[in-house]
Amino acid sequence: IYHTPELTPTDKTPDCAIVVDVLRATSTIATVLASGGEAVQAFSNLDQLIAVSENWPPEKRLRAGERGGAKVTGFELGNSPLDCTPEVVKGRRLFISTTNGTRALQRVQDSPIVLAAALINRATVVKFLLEKQPEIVWIVGSGWEGSFSLEDTVCAGAIAHSVLAQSQISPAELAGNDEVISAIALYAQWQNDLLGLFHHASHGQRLLRLESHEDLRYCAQADILDVLPIQQEPGVLKSQ
Ligand code: MLT
Repeated sequence: IYHTPELTPTDKTPDCAIVVDVLRATSTIATVLASGGEAVQAFSNLDQLIAVSENWPPEKRLRAGERGGAKVTGFELGNSPLDCTPEVVKGRRLFISTTNGTRALQRVQDSPIVLAAALINRATVVKFLLEKQPEIVWIVGSGWEGSFSLEDTVCAGAIAHSVLAQSQISPAELAGNDEVISAIALYAQWQNDLLGLFHHASHGQRLLRLESHEDLRYCAQADILDVLPIQQEPGVLKSQ
C-alpha cells in the first residue's frame, strides 16, 4: 500500500495497480461505469482535459472537474457520484480531473493492469484479484495533497481483509508489511461504521463543510456495485 501518489515509486511497476480515492474520484468512476458511461478518461491537468475533450462530439462527452472538493466553473459536473445517474452518463465519456484521484491514476498508468477501486465496488475488485492472482499488487491511496487519508487506507484494508479471508494467504505472511497490517486493523475497527470514520477524516470534514453529506453516505457503502473499472489505454478506464 502506498498512501499518496507522491509516495508511489516511479522507477518500477507492479503486476496490478489499484487506485483508491473513496472520497470521491474512484467512487465516481465506478458509478459512471455502472450507470452505462462509455468510459472515464482521467487527467491531472484541466487544460489538457479541455483540449482532448474538444475533439469529442458534445453529445457524447461530459466534463467533470473538482478542485479543493468544489466543482470547477464551466464544467458540467463536479465530482459527486450522485450526479452520475444513467440519465446523465449513459453512452457518454466522462472526462474528469480531480485534486488527487486522477493524479494517482496517472502515477501508475504504465502498470500492465490498472483498476479503480472504492468501497462500493470492493467485492468485484477482490473477485478479480482472486481469479487473476497477480503476484505484485500495489494499492495506491490518493490521500490529500501528499498526506495520508483515513478513507483510502480503510478501503485498502477492506480489500486486503477480503482477499485474506478468501485465499490461502495466512496473516503471518504479512509480517513486515506495516502498511497492510495497519490498514486491515483500521478496517477491522471501523467496518460496521464506515460513515462514522468518514466523519473523523479530514477530507470527510471538508466535504461536510461543502454540504456533501449524501456523498459521504453513498461512498461509505461496501459492495453495492458490481463493476470493475479497468484501464484500457493510459488514463482511459472502461467497465470489464
Ligand atoms: C480528489 O481527487 O482529491 C477527490 O476525489 C476530491 C473530491 O472531490 O472529493
